[in-house]
Amino acid sequence: MSQLKNDLLLRTLKGEQTERTPVWMMRQAGRYLPEYRVLREKYGFFERCQTPGLACEITIQPVDIVGVDAAILFSDILVVPQAMGLEVQLIENKGPILPDPIQTANDLKRIHVPDVYETLQYVFDAIKLIKQELNGRVPLIGFAGAPWTLLCYMVQGKGSKTFDEAKAFCYQQPELAHQLLQMITDTTIAYLKGQVAAGADTIQIFDSWGGLLSPQDFENISLKYIRQIVNALKDEVPTIIFAKGAWFALEEMAATGAAGLGIDWCIKPQLARKFAGNNVTLQGNFDPAKLLSPIPVIQKEVKEMLQAFGPGRHVANLGHGILPNVPVDHARAFVETVKEYSFK
Ligand code: CP3
Repeated sequence: MSQLKNDLLLRTLKGEQTERTPVWMMRQAGRYLPEYRVLREKYGFFERCQTPGLACEITIQPVDIVGVDAAILFSDILVVPQAMGLEVQLIENKGPILPDPIQTANDLKRIHVPDVYETLQYVFDAIKLIKQELNGRVPLIGFAGAPWTLLCYMVQGKGSKTFDEAKAFCYQQPELAHQLLQMITDTTIAYLKGQVAAGADTIQIFDSWGGLLSPQDFENISLKYIRQIVNALKDEVPTIIFAKGAWFALEEMAATGAAGLGIDWCIKPQLARKFAGNNVTLQGNFDPAKLLSPIPVIQKEVKEMLQAFGPGRHVANLGHGILPNVPVDHARAFVETVKEYSFK
């Protein structure tokens, strides 16, 4: 495997002091890029995920176009429920639909823990191709959804602001819920180990809906399973946990041994640091909608963010995914301000 020419992200995750703060953006491979939209016209969403050449091209676009310090695999968290046997449709501009969600013990019989080398080999092939094409320019981030966030979609069957049906499932049928969560966890561990074997340099776990749970439920329904995943990967690559809205569990998340914790813009970096302690790298936390501001405002607020985190143990990022209507030069201004300002 080729040596990395830019390993700022990996060194920062390990806690080393670096020349400057590394920067990437969640959902950086996506609709705000005209080059992505061209491919979106021609190919369906899962066709883009399943064709290594396309996934590779889309993954590398933001490295070339906005100059981020890491690539993140182009795929989706919902390929895991798909591999487990659930139908997943991605309706463009509407979001995911799972027409036959899991709601009963009988439904659970329709899914299984798959052989990931049979069902998700296309992801591993994409990773190998991406690593080859990146040729060591920047590290490659692999990823998966956290079990709770995947349960949300598998039970609710679609996106939701509250995921009340997913919660009801956990509260009314806890045994079934834990059975499902364990199946997702087992699949995810095998899947992520496969990503690492194929060449992923670090792994991010997306718990987009972690913040919908109370601290107690977050521990019981989400973190318990994330912990298993982090443990399984700990000796292989650094892992990043991004549990949106779950600032209340930063201390517990740091204790899992994850190298990095993602935070959103609803908590001050100083407070997040206090909760998380000094042995973990923090990642975030620019409000994605702030990228719609005029460029001078973006520059000013990025500097304030960098100051608030302080140098070291910080990966600059957004607090959630980039919005599709962000102008490319605004995304570039975000990246360039981090690079220039954190160097000083
Ligand atoms: O970060 C990247 O650039 C890598 C690719 C990536 C995608 N989805 C591609 C995608 C990643 C890391 C994801 C993660 C993902 N997918 C999450 C967790 C992160 C988050 O934002 O909270 C979630 C909850 C999903 C599920 C999902 N996929 C939703 C809710 C949607 C529809 C809403 C939306 O953002 O469009 C998707 C579709 C999706 N996944 C798109 C992309 C680029 C848009 C599809 C399109 O091109 O129309």
